[in-house]
Amino acid sequence: MSHRIAAVHARQLWDSRGRPTVEAEVRLENGAVGRAIAPAGASRGAHEAIDLRDGGAAFGGMGVAAAVANVAREIAPALSGMDARDQAGVDAALAALDGTPTKQRLGGNAVVAVSMAVLHAAAAGEGVPVWRWLAQDRRVRLPLPEIQIFGGGAHAGRRTDIQDFMIMAPHAGSFRRALEVTDEVYRAAGRLMEELGPLAGVADEGGWWPNFASNGQALDVLTRAIDAAGHRAGEDVFISLDIAANEFGDGKGYRLALDDRAMDGAAMAETVIGWTRRYPILSIEDPASQDDLATMATVTGAIGDAVQVIGDDVLVTRAARVEAAAAAGACNAALIKVNQIGTVTEAKAALDAARAHGWGTIVSARSGETEDVTIAHLAVGWDAGQFKVGSFTRSERMAKWNEMLRIEEAMGQDAVFAGPSAFAAPVAARLAR
Ligand code: PGA
Ligand code: ZN
Repeated sequence: MSHRIAAVHARQLWDSRGRPTVEAEVRLENGAVGRAIAPAGASRGAHEAIDLRDGGAAFGGMGVAAAVANVAREIAPALSGMDARDQAGVDAALAALDGTPTKQRLGGNAVVAVSMAVLHAAAAGEGVPVWRWLAQDRRVRLPLPEIQIFGGGAHAGRRTDIQDFMIMAPHAGSFRRALEVTDEVYRAAGRLMEELGPLAGVADEGGWWPNFASNGQALDVLTRAIDAAGHRAGEDVFISLDIAANEFGDGKGYRLALDDRAMDGAAMAETVIGWTRRYPILSIEDPASQDDLATMATVTGAIGDAVQVIGDDVLVTRAARVEAAAAAGACNAALIKVNQIGTVTEAKAALDAARAHGWGTIVSARSGETEDVTIAHLAVGWDAGQFKVGSFTRSERMAKWNEMLRIEEAMGQDAVFAGPSAFAAPVAARLAR
């Protein structure tokens, strides 16, 4: 039966923030169908792929009618007849058709939805789940999740400067158990916040709204919540932070509004390094802004032998930027978001580049998400080792965790939890028992 692409269709749906987004549906000549929905970020790097938005008054300017039209008018005819199993060929055709480094002509949202839908169609045509289609015969691990307990930064009206206060349970032994530990800590954190002051709902990714007097207090409460849940902070369960420093600083300076402090890059590095010494922190993301490799390198040089330092806005899932960051010694892990670069193949290239440097790799969701669970399959099929989806509430998040539980069950006896092996070697060594 032919795996050739017979039809590509797109439609406007709605994401978890109630904003329009693009869904693509790909049908093959053999009848297989694949579908995927574009996610959307809020704390975005300047070097990311650019979504096409309609502007104007409707939907706050966030409409995607033009992106949907581009799928019908340009993408569908260009991909017609291509073999869906040739993901690299399809993605190269998409990139060439767009013709810009940021996919801004056709729209990053249109391109990423189609690229992922082709992946789904190919797997469906082969009669296997996407993760297995990607893994082929290779042994792959269930990823270690990092899960948000408090959501701050651009996802909570800038209530805290730090964007994500997350936990990781590298010794949980299984993905299923890691989620149970998270549930225990999430509840304990909620109880503590109730005791300490007003519990004010949840942020964009479903973590508790961070009603704290300082960034440090948030770290204190999170540490206490881990212990209150019956786990040993810094031994079983660790803190992971996405500082998302791009949102409050550039190469010239950083401003922690909640702590009323303005700093240069060196002082910002000192502050972050200080947090890792005072709190049970295992992982830090974007401690400096997107082009401030010097501050990133200062942080990685000081703590990279024990703490994971992840590049997100600084790398934007681009292999070339991974190489530049590696040359500068700026990170020891890469966040991988397919919509930052626009196609499945280019995202995999960034992951491969990071892995070639011995870095950890984390497949990640965006703050604007949907019921689409493609990233769960990418995290396993690519053997990324780590998985970041947001918090432990709200169905656009839970859909991904739940899909991973299905994958874990399907693997049965072969299921191996990445645990400490998910990190760059020096960080993994710290976790050896
Ligand atoms: P975003 O944030 O999806 O809003 O860009 C997620 C992150 O910074 O990791
Ligand atoms: Zn980030």
